[in-house]
Amino acid sequence: MASVYLLLAFALGTVAAYTGLDLPPGPYCGITSDCCENRKDSCSHKILDTLCYCDEFCDLNRAHDDCCPDYLPVCRNQTIAPALIVEPCRYDRQTYLPGQSYTENCNECECIQDPVSKATSWSCKQDVCLMSDDIVYGVNQPGHTWRAANYSEFYGKKLADGLKYKLGTLPLSAVTKRMLPIDYDKNIDYPQNFDARRRWPRFISPVVDQGWCGSDWAVSIASIASDRFAIQSNGAENMVLSPQTMLSCNLRQQQGCGGGNIDVAWNFAGTHGFVDEKCFPYKASVTSCPYARRGDLLRDGCPPADPRRTSRYKVGPPYRLKKEKDIMFDIMDSGPVQAVMTVYHDFFHYRDGIYRRSRYGDNQLQGLHSVRIVGWGEDHRDKYWIVANSWGTQWGEDGYFRIARGSNESGIESFVVAALSDVIMANART
Ligand SMILES: *[C@@H]1O[C@H](CO)[C@@H](O)[C@H](O)[C@H]1NC(C)=O
Ligand SMILES: *[C@@H]1O[C@H](CO)[C@@H](O)[C@H](O)[C@H]1NC(C)=O
Ligand SMILES: *[C@@H]1O[C@H](CO)[C@@H](O)[C@H](O)[C@H]1NC(C)=O
Repeated sequence: MASVYLLLAFALGTVAAYTGLDLPPGPYCGITSDCCENRKDSCSHKILDTLCYCDEFCDLNRAHDDCCPDYLPVCRNQTIAPALIVEPCRYDRQTYLPGQSYTENCNECECIQDPVSKATSWSCKQDVCLMSDDIVYGVNQPGHTWRAANYSEFYGKKLADGLKYKLGTLPLSAVTKRMLPIDYDKNIDYPQNFDARRRWPRFISPVVDQGWCGSDWAVSIASIASDRFAIQSNGAENMVLSPQTMLSCNLRQQQGCGGGNIDVAWNFAGTHGFVDEKCFPYKASVTSCPYARRGDLLRDGCPPADPRRTSRYKVGPPYRLKKEKDIMFDIMDSGPVQAVMTVYHDFFHYRDGIYRRSRYGDNQLQGLHSVRIVGWGEDHRDKYWIVANSWGTQWGEDGYFRIARGSNESGIESFVVAALSDVIMANART
């Protein structure tokens, strides 16, 4: 009898409490055959650690979950009609009862029950997930210059959150977009390959992990300024600068982990300046700013390595580069530069190779990302930039990616900026 009661328990919707348990063998209503009219609280029996009822209310609402399992056979002389047996939802060899859910990548699926037919089915949210099996599979088919990976850190997140919290560059203002580029037009032979990490092995700052915080605007500028301090001072001022200085202190016109304006950020780097990373480590959130607007490193409690320095680490006016060769010249001459690129869905999956937006990246959803170009190269005449991302070293080629060069791929050449670092003059390269 126990199994019949179990089925009946399903039929009546007493599911959540009783699944997988052997119900104490009845009878309940059958003990005294007291089948009651209307709704009557006293017309109840103990079942497990709660009560079940034998009143008429069970006729009206068979899905309600507190009728005794033997109500129908005892009170209504009905055996179980097959249609009443609820088929649970199934997923991945598990059964789920109405109201229960599981998560598929970034979307929750709930087992729902039709109130009339009692049939169950899955109802899943339909958000675009950051990691997509289709992109991993599609990009890894022949015909692409790069390979895709399924990053576990990104799995289960929504694309919209990736675009907001793994990037962080707000749309450029019209004035900024019109900024005139420098024309070097140097007529020189550029090396086929150039990598700032090889040219200045101890001076290039490590790849940052911005976490789930749209702080690329602060991270990229701090990294470029760090590299250029070391390069321009020939190692005398070789420290990693703190993007947290900007994230916590540059609040005007900025949105913290919700994103920042590049022009405002460069301006802040020139007027307020940075302290070093050891003094104010990166927190991936906006904390209170410990520094006065006008301050120096000693008052900030951040003594510099070079005692001749008093002011914070600041940069000169930012300048724009547009032509491929001019960008190359500036990197070779002064160090890494910042680029604002457009990130499409497929980019999050980049594993290695030379990135080009694939047809899987063709999505309405996209975002702007500030990155650090450190060099260039050629692979079987396929030209690329070498770029530091800020998603940690587990991503891409040890935190870096390569992207097609000379064709404004994903807008990588559309807005390139840099500034000279204000090194102590006695240190400056001549
Ligand atoms: C219960 O129903 C069965 C058939 O469904 C019938 O044979 C039997 O007489 C009924 N018993 C009572 C007490 O009504
Ligand atoms: C991607 O990784 C997640 C866990 O990190 C895994 O559940 C999922 O099945 C993976 N997808 C593919 C296509 O490998
Ligand atoms: C480069 O690409 C970006 C974004 O895709 C676009 O807005 C810009 O106009 C392009 N610039 C040039 C010079 O083609």
